[in-house]
Amino acid sequence: MEAGRFLVSVRGIEEIIERLERSGELDFDGFKMLMEADESGRERLRAAARACADGVYGRAVYIRGLIEFTNYCRNDCLYCGIRRSNQNADRYRLTQEQIMSCCEQGYGLGFRTFVLQGGEDAYFTDERVCDIVSKIKEAYPDCAVTLSIGEKSRESYQAFFDAGADRYLLRHETANEEHYGRLHPPELSCADRKRCLWDLKEIGYQVGCGFMVGSPFQTLENLYEDLLFIKELEPHMVGIGPFIPQKDTPFGNMAAGTLDMTLKLLSIIRLMNPKALLPATTALGTIAPDGRELGILSGANVVMPNLSPVNVRNKYALYDNKICTSDEAAECKGCLSRRMERIGYNVVTARGDYIDKQS
Ligand code: 5AD
Ligand code: FES
Repeated sequence: MEAGRFLVSVRGIEEIIERLERSGELDFDGFKMLMEADESGRERLRAAARACADGVYGRAVYIRGLIEFTNYCRNDCLYCGIRRSNQNADRYRLTQEQIMSCCEQGYGLGFRTFVLQGGEDAYFTDERVCDIVSKIKEAYPDCAVTLSIGEKSRESYQAFFDAGADRYLLRHETANEEHYGRLHPPELSCADRKRCLWDLKEIGYQVGCGFMVGSPFQTLENLYEDLLFIKELEPHMVGIGPFIPQKDTPFGNMAAGTLDMTLKLLSIIRLMNPKALLPATTALGTIAPDGRELGILSGANVVMPNLSPVNVRNKYALYDNKICTSDEAAECKGCLSRRMERIGYNVVTARGDYIDKQS
């Protein structure tokens, strides 16, 4: 009896994975089974996702140089350590010169994508952002510039694009309006966030959305909605990582997202969106020492080492115990390259555009 039931569930998982591989489709019951799968199901899912990524991108892992240029933020997201009401956050902004010198150092290390990430900081007006973007593009015309600076008007997004920005990362955080409301203050809405993502796509950016795994109040139904939203949006990149509590936030005592769930979701997202650029995030490396390696082995194909000056690193504390806060950019890049080599992957210094746009 027990053995019979076991066989049924193993075969069920095989079928779900085969269907995913063949058609990219997954219904809610199949999703639930995968998320609840034990070791053997997990291995099967991981192998399918890795084979899928290898088929599209080979054994290349793209690197993006992350420059966290301001931790001032007008928003008050309940999960985030740089929320405006966190009095303990030690605020900083990089000057344009500091940002340029991060790029210079990064370029020398082989980075061909710079990701400018920051809180929603009024100091960085559209004019200032455009100025920074165009200076970087002027100095490094062979590089891609990615912005990750939150919700802006369509006009602002257009202005940044015209100044030369190629890509934009804006995690949707959760595709469910009610869940969104429990993670954010009332002035923020899921509908606005989605509108921003559609605007960015229409303007012509390569767009990244994403969410935290195991964020407070998240249900399997919510996660399934995230997957459907991603399918609908067809982003070029999907950033997911575990939620990790930050002690000065209202969610400071909540449980972190798990490695198991994050890896399964990475694999599912890979199989549903074979060409997506999927980062193995710093948050994943924070909850497990080999988290990023496992992320790559589960279908991810991007890593984002930090290029911010070491003296501000620990101030961009979205969550507690963040890794790599005292390592120079060169050390991080070397460390990640070795980590990837050890598992049979190569960090490549191409721009690493979405595969449809590669020449
Ligand atoms: N744990 C994990 N990820 C977080 N982020 C913000 N706060 C946390 C946290 N406590 C993520 C959000 C945001 C991205 C920049 O970092 O998803 O979009
Ligand atoms: Fe930063 Fe290893 S990646 S030190």
